[in-house]
Amino acid sequence: MFSLSPDQQALVQAARATAHAELASTVKEDDEREHFRKDLFGRLGAAGLCGIQTAEEWGGLGLGYVEYALVIEEIAKVAPSYAVAVAVSGLPQVILAQFGNDAQRATWMPGLAAGELLGAFALSEPGSGSDASSLRTTAVLDGDNYRLNGTKFWITHGGVADVYVVMARTGGPGPKGISAFLVSSDTPGLSFGKKEEKMGLRASPTVEMVLEDAIVPVSNRIGPEGNGFSVAMSALDSGRITIAATALGLAQAAMDCAGRYAVTRKQFDTAIIDFQGVGFMLADMAVRIEQARLLTHKAAWLKDNKLAFSPIAAMAKLAATDCAMSVTTDAVQVMGGYGYTREYPVERLMRDAKVMQIVEGTNQVQRVVIARHLKRGWE
Ligand code: CAA
Repeated sequence: MFSLSPDQQALVQAARATAHAELASTVKEDDEREHFRKDLFGRLGAAGLCGIQTAEEWGGLGLGYVEYALVIEEIAKVAPSYAVAVAVSGLPQVILAQFGNDAQRATWMPGLAAGELLGAFALSEPGSGSDASSLRTTAVLDGDNYRLNGTKFWITHGGVADVYVVMARTGGPGPKGISAFLVSSDTPGLSFGKKEEKMGLRASPTVEMVLEDAIVPVSNRIGPEGNGFSVAMSALDSGRITIAATALGLAQAAMDCAGRYAVTRKQFDTAIIDFQGVGFMLADMAVRIEQARLLTHKAAWLKDNKLAFSPIAAMAKLAATDCAMSVTTDAVQVMGGYGYTREYPVERLMRDAKVMQIVEGTNQVQRVVIARHLKRGWE
């Protein structure tokens, strides 16, 4: 996919305009205050940006992951925390579209796609991060309900989301003992603990979730018992495309900021971009971004065309997030002392970039996924 269709170009323009109009004026303050504004997320939804990939029947735009990635990149150029909000709130939609039943879809998808409801995904636990199948939260059948007990960690939108997809153990140890549940925010026994104080992505709340005899109706189980790990892994395959797109957006924003600076900043009577030391840094940034964008769009295109995309999505996530870390670091360097101050966005983008290498599977886990795929081809 080497050029955008007129419709895709129009979507990009619309997303760019909405992101600037709704998010630009508060992004600095919200980073400093570690503040998430649900109403702003709702305005992205009102503009049609929260259900790009969800079928029209369920309230979305019925477009593909290529369009979803394009929109997320535009939001991330302005406010990466809200790009992540759209990505994470998209996970329950992707899960329900693939694994849910019509009653569950009818209850949750229109609101999520409209941005009237905020979604979240609860897999990780204090002792279970990369080794996701070792999770210990339990779900025990009790009449028409399950009782959920355990602690979930690093929950994006914890305490502000309206619905959580929670992975809990209904069977024995390992991946086959895990089931997935829709847990509404008003569930008895559900509460929230510590909100993390983070280096970056500070407008995106990351909160501990506590389940103490939380009562979840059997009708809220997604798919059969024991299918929860596949639900989670499959959602993360898709989610990794959106994290790659977020990383691309923030990398592009950092490069553009550094580039504009390098054109106007003069030293020794010369614009600093004309010194090879700076010009070559910007050229290398552009190459890295272009490479990562091609991989991200390829992963999205494969998914849209119902072709195997898991290893390419892992490659895209790995490449785009490493690109974001290196591009934002170099953008600070190009801008020197100015880049290091909060007057310019590049220091914030550099802090935001770091977590991209960690969330939705560390970049080491992406290498595990890629290497296992390669091994299968050679066995
Ligand atoms: N799609 C569907 N099903 C899959 C799958 C996939 N991509 N990958 C695995 N499965 C299923 C299969 O049924 C498999 O069984 P078979 O071998 O019989 O086919 C079963 O799961 C077990 O798979 P593995 O043996 O590969 O499982 P593993 O325990 O070795 O784990 C792993 C592999 C890749 C390391 C995985 O644990 C993983 O991805 N870990 C990282 C977790 C992660 O990304 N966490 C992020 C949480 S969310 C977040 O960051 C932020 C947020 O707010 C959203």
